[in-house]
Amino acid sequence: MRAHEAGALHGQAGDRGPAWLRHPEDVNALVPSLWAENVAKSDGVVTVAGVGVDELAREFGTPLYVLDEADFRHRARSFREAFAGADVYYAGKAFLSVAAARWIAEEGLNLDVCTGGELAVALRAEFPPERIGLHGNNKSVAELRRALEVGVGRIIVDSFEEIGRLGALAGELGVRAPVMVRVTAGVEAHTHEYISTSHEDQKFGFSIAGGDAMEAVRRILADEGLNFLGLHSHIGSQIFVTDGFEVAARRVLRLHAQIASELGVVAPELDLGGGFGIAYTTQDDPSSPETLARGMRGIVEGECAALGVDVPRLSIEPGRAIAGPSTFTLYEIGTTKRVALDGGGARHYVAVDGGMSDNIRPALYSADYSCTLASRESTAEPVLSRVVGKHCESGDIVVKDEYLPADVAPGDLLAVPGTGAYCRSLANNYNHVPRPAVVAVRDGEARLLLRRETEDDLLALDLG
Ligand code: LLP
Repeated sequence: MRAHEAGALHGQAGDRGPAWLRHPEDVNALVPSLWAENVAKSDGVVTVAGVGVDELAREFGTPLYVLDEADFRHRARSFREAFAGADVYYAGKAFLSVAAARWIAEEGLNLDVCTGGELAVALRAEFPPERIGLHGNNKSVAELRRALEVGVGRIIVDSFEEIGRLGALAGELGVRAPVMVRVTAGVEAHTHEYISTSHEDQKFGFSIAGGDAMEAVRRILADEGLNFLGLHSHIGSQIFVTDGFEVAARRVLRLHAQIASELGVVAPELDLGGGFGIAYTTQDDPSSPETLARGMRGIVEGECAALGVDVPRLSIEPGRAIAGPSTFTLYEIGTTKRVALDGGGARHYVAVDGGMSDNIRPALYSADYSCTLASRESTAEPVLSRVVGKHCESGDIVVKDEYLPADVAPGDLLAVPGTGAYCRSLANNYNHVPRPAVVAVRDGEARLLLRRETEDDLLALDLG
């Protein structure tokens, strides 16, 4: 980690970027592990499923989220196949549109939604409600009611108040609500604090250690309107090491066994959440769904054998690992600048036509990304560059450190891979910038999934 009194972004002479960043042998080449399966370069132009980004930019404008549909579907299918015998819930918070929900349904996955809005998209896509799980630490009565009315397959409860509300609603509607209990296993996941969810001091779940989880199960079992399905644990996101999952699974299964022995109820299901990391840059080394499945099955089966309980039906909730790598963001470069560093040297700033409104992850989680010149080959020297957006903040960074050809210039297109998860879904209108379109490309055909917002869309909310 480079340290500077003005912060980690502030460079000094001789700045070579972070230790993991390699000087590229060929600055025009794509690093395949960072791109969707059907992305390639042809004469310097990035193509996806046979369509060039120059054509996409002309037709749909920039910034543009470009999604490789076959890649998205393939990743979804790979999880379903690797976890055969378990249920895979795609975490729609990563990216959700009507088309994406349909792909998930067609590929045989279930769907995790966590608000009424996400549920509405799923219902618009005619996603089978019994294959939907509803999350959320503060679901409104209206959200719970809608979920029960349409018959979602599971509601993951997260507070004592919610258990009371759900019991009352189930009575009122004359249904039995299928519930899971979100528990906190007390695990410190090795990820950014804001996306870590299983240590004790955060808002999600009932604490196992503190006894609240057991009490939640007791209250559910005492209410005839509630059908207890099992425990749910999600330790956090963008996680690579399995030790966190392992410790969490052990603690959750111990509680599962305790419920069986003390309350006489063998819960049929167990959900271990999502959070599987993806490669944003060459420093990340994700596991395949097969490796994850083998590891998780091994842990669960071993622990159940040791505890003398039957193995419950397992479910998982990957979001990022399905949507993330499927998409890149296409930008047009507008300005470039060489900025002098303390003590000599300079940094190459490249400004694009989007920024923290279409990808807030660098600003929010210090997330790293990579990028490539997408519209032509260059013979210029690679120079360490920083890609920034067009917003009125110096923290409006898209790619903190990347080698780009020294001659990148206004009008060039730039592509940033790995933006399929938590970019469009976290997009915002800061500085009244309309949100970009999402286009899906498959077999040489591009289809608009979400159209670009317009200034009229923004002004439509302003009542003057
Ligand atoms: N299940 C639950 C209960 C979750 O809360 C989440 C993510 C997932 C599954 C899916 O996690 P994934 O497999 O996508 O990592 N905005 C942050 C990530 C927030 C994740 C919230 N919950 C980011 O951009 O990194």
